[in-house]
Amino acid sequence: MPSIVGKIVDALHLGKDKSQHKSPVFDHTKITVFFVLGGPGAGKGTQCSRLVEDYGFCHLSAGDLLRAEQHREGSEFGELIQTCIREGTIVPMEVTVKLLENAMAAALKEGRSGDGWADGRGRFLVDGFPRKMDQAIKFDEEVCMASMVLFFSTTEEVMLARLLERGKTSGREDDNAESIKKRFNTYKETTMPVIEHYRALGKVAEVDSSAAVEVVHKDAKVAVEKILNK
Ligand code: C5P
Ligand code: MG
Repeated sequence: MPSIVGKIVDALHLGKDKSQHKSPVFDHTKITVFFVLGGPGAGKGTQCSRLVEDYGFCHLSAGDLLRAEQHREGSEFGELIQTCIREGTIVPMEVTVKLLENAMAAALKEGRSGDGWADGRGRFLVDGFPRKMDQAIKFDEEVCMASMVLFFSTTEEVMLARLLERGKTSGREDDNAESIKKRFNTYKETTMPVIEHYRALGKVAEVDSSAAVEVVHKDAKVAVEKILNK
């Protein structure tokens, strides 16, 4: 019986040129990608929305793209995504990387008039990604080399309080105490090594996201401007 990953690779028609080394789909000298990481409830989505207004980024949340795919009629990954999200585990990277690549291509095709979008250029905040080392390597090698990781850091206590508050209205299947515990574990065991990988490359800009939204926003702007003006 083919493995689940094998099935996904077949379904996405990714297997054909397995032996060839692929160059990235997008040229990182024209397309700026910031990965946005931090634990669940650290404020990634909230801060990304602000930064979109400031700098004309296109905001792509990996979690939102996965939830949309989960509910898309005819998706063969609906059940798989639902299980991973509820259990706080990582969806096989082939699915998430392809969804991001497609969303980037669509945004570039559509074009924008904001900062950094003239002459085939574009800038993206890729939020909640990469959550695992295999996603990081695949995206950098095959989609687009990321410029920087914006890392929103805070305590588990703060994140738990935010998630439980959000859970009152979010309708998300994973904003409950049981799923949150599993998500924290995945974050510590699987995502922190990704942050450490980029830290060793000097690519992490860390912003303490414990304070109120406006305060964190100011610090995030300082970090982003430092990178954009390099
Ligand atoms: O980022 P967000 O909290 O919306 O992600 C929700 C869930 O989606 C994660 O707990 C995980 O199950 C899945 N996910 C993933 N890979 C990513 C981003 C999210 O598997 N890069
Ligand atoms: Mg989010």
